[in-house]
Amino acid sequence: MENETKKVMLSGIKPSGDLTLGSYLGAVKNWAERADQFDCYYFMADLHAITVRQNPADLRRRTLEQLAQYIACGLDPERNTLFVQSHVHQHAELGWVLNCYTMFGELSRMTQFKDKSAKNADNINGGLFTYPSLMAADILLYQPDFVPVGEDQKQHVELCRNIVQRFNGVYGEVFKMPEPYIPKVGARIMSLTNPTSKMSKSENEDTGRVLIMDAPEVVMKQFKRAVTDSDTENCVRYDPDRKPGVANLMTIYSSVTGKTYAEIEAEFEGKGYGAFKPAVGEAVVELLRPIREESQRLIKDKAYLESVYRAGAEKAGYVAEKTLRKVYKKIGFLQR
Ligand code: TYM
Repeated sequence: MENETKKVMLSGIKPSGDLTLGSYLGAVKNWAERADQFDCYYFMADLHAITVRQNPADLRRRTLEQLAQYIACGLDPERNTLFVQSHVHQHAELGWVLNCYTMFGELSRMTQFKDKSAKNADNINGGLFTYPSLMAADILLYQPDFVPVGEDQKQHVELCRNIVQRFNGVYGEVFKMPEPYIPKVGARIMSLTNPTSKMSKSENEDTGRVLIMDAPEVVMKQFKRAVTDSDTENCVRYDPDRKPGVANLMTIYSSVTGKTYAEIEAEFEGKGYGAFKPAVGEAVVELLRPIREESQRLIKDKAYLESVYRAGAEKAGYVAEKTLRKVYKKIGFLQR
């Protein structure tokens, strides 16, 4: 059985907004490049999405679109298990169990909780607080070796590792210890208009985000108006502390083209920001073009997408159930 020898990879994205260039470069790109080497599980994290209030019709639409986008980004459903989180009930069940092995103090220290509660002051719900226990359950049900995520999710994966240590410390080797898998370039793509804050799907267009479904003219407009830096140097040089806007554009260009920062500096030597910004825009347009076109084609084929997520839930559910049974037995639940 080939899967028995392969290492396992797992990750997810919340369908709380449309996929951004940040999520693509920080996470999905990494997933698609590794499909042959690993046994892979990727899901639409709808249970996580409702920690912030969602419009039901939009959530449903985006969950399906996200599946089409996963496939268009190169995640072949024949070689990756693609599923909707809420279709595999074991996530919520293990999430509850792990809540009882996660400390209030640990959850209180999560920067995402602090950020999100500041942004949603009228809806600081329990789910927002215990989000990392559910994320640990998502991970541990599949006993993955690696969890490919962007920099902002590293703290949650670290907390998951603490939970593994605590749980295994009491019950023996129940869970495999997962490793975060963070790309060297592109782990934290910043907003194009505010390069000291992360590019985020829950922000609007004016906040300098690029969506993977944006039309070429929209992408070009966003890059042309990207803030560079207030220095008078007008020189493409990698200096994230003094020139965060240029550094962010260089990171995007590097991640898309595979060029190093030194190669990029040489390419734009003496050319200035006026030439650099549209060049980054064009590279992104060409990267996104086939993804956008394939997603548009796939979204029309609802029957196909349904068959993919149903098969995905079946396979994921089988693996998840094995882990959940083991956990229930270890903690002393009476068998049915
Ligand atoms: P989410 O939906 O916020 O983001 C999805 C993935 O994209 C990465 N990412 C970025 N990377 C670089 N630059 C950016 N600007 C950027 N924005 C987003 C994120 O790091 C993430 O990898 N809690 C998770 C979803 C989740 C999950 C899981 C992930 C739920 N269960 C289990 C891994 C394993 C989240 O909110 O990601």
